[in-house]
Amino acid sequence: MVSKSTLPRSIEWKESHITILDQRKLPHSTNFIDLYSIEEVYESIVSLAVRGAPAIGIAAAYGLALSAQQLDGESLEEFKLKVKAKSHYLRGSRPTAVNLFWALDRMEKALKDAISVNEAKTNLIHEAIKIQTEDEEVCRQIGEYALSLVKNGDTLMTICNAGGIATARYGTALAPFHLASEKGMVLKAFACETRPVLQGARLTAWELQQCGTDVTIITDNMAAQTLKEKNISAIIVGADRIVANGDTANKIGTLGLAILAKHFDIPFYVCAPTSTFDVTMQNGNEIPIEERSPEEVTHLNGQRIAPEGTKVYNPAFDVTPSELITAFITENGIIHPDYSEHIPKYLK
Ligand code: MRU
Repeated sequence: MVSKSTLPRSIEWKESHITILDQRKLPHSTNFIDLYSIEEVYESIVSLAVRGAPAIGIAAAYGLALSAQQLDGESLEEFKLKVKAKSHYLRGSRPTAVNLFWALDRMEKALKDAISVNEAKTNLIHEAIKIQTEDEEVCRQIGEYALSLVKNGDTLMTICNAGGIATARYGTALAPFHLASEKGMVLKAFACETRPVLQGARLTAWELQQCGTDVTIITDNMAAQTLKEKNISAIIVGADRIVANGDTANKIGTLGLAILAKHFDIPFYVCAPTSTFDVTMQNGNEIPIEERSPEEVTHLNGQRIAPEGTKVYNPAFDVTPSELITAFITENGIIHPDYSEHIPKYLK
């Protein structure tokens, strides 16, 4: 087991470039890639080398700061316009996780009051570092609140990877596991493999092994049987966008788990920083759902598993209606229904 402190950071700012942990290669190799241009950052987000809502926001923030450093000879006005155009470009990388847009909004605000190009460049770097640093503290806080809802020895089910590598550190839904292991508590996990990209089998299993958590992988279609037989205390998931009424987009398969939680009468918790809330949208029908390439479904490890010419539907996310969610666990506390009424009070 690797000690907790050596769980690699998913993103590091290196002044002339950004280094990211290549999550496509896990768990077989812990590979890092250096990104020197905004196009490389864009591509790493699209290809899921860096993924998970908060990590996408952090990568985009650094990507914008990096490309701003590379601008030269512009007037302040020209510089600001160019940075905004680059921000617009990054916004096109993935549509569902609102943290991407939230982080880029923050970056654009950081430009506003600068009175020179140099000051604007410095502001952008500082803001990106701040976004990453704050996320670590936020995730730790989410973990503390999540721990208050579980008991020593509990077993929780999760899907996808809402872990340290999807954030600055600790993760959201995986934060209680990291904190439990720091505090000498026992929390066990059942991780849904999360077809088609296998974030559960590849990433969550690997990450929880690193912190010494007892983790068992199941294929997604084993969830009902597992909930029936394995004394699961709660389902705990992350989120990509939570709207005003509490409807929540998260990795495809989350909605099915929420329906199962209701059937088996166990709590269904959504862990998310307040940066994942988007109260400009009233309900989940407004959330853009990313559809990804058919090859993610028709192929496994580059090997075709479905007949040529088969039609494929590959939504990367689904929306869980708020009535299936027991509570939201945020850095500002635990939000219970009525969500439309209570969510605004937690968005400081
Ligand atoms: O497509 P991905 O791997 O980026 O999807 C990630 C998820 O759905 C996570 O649950 C969510 O972003 C929260 S990560 C803390």
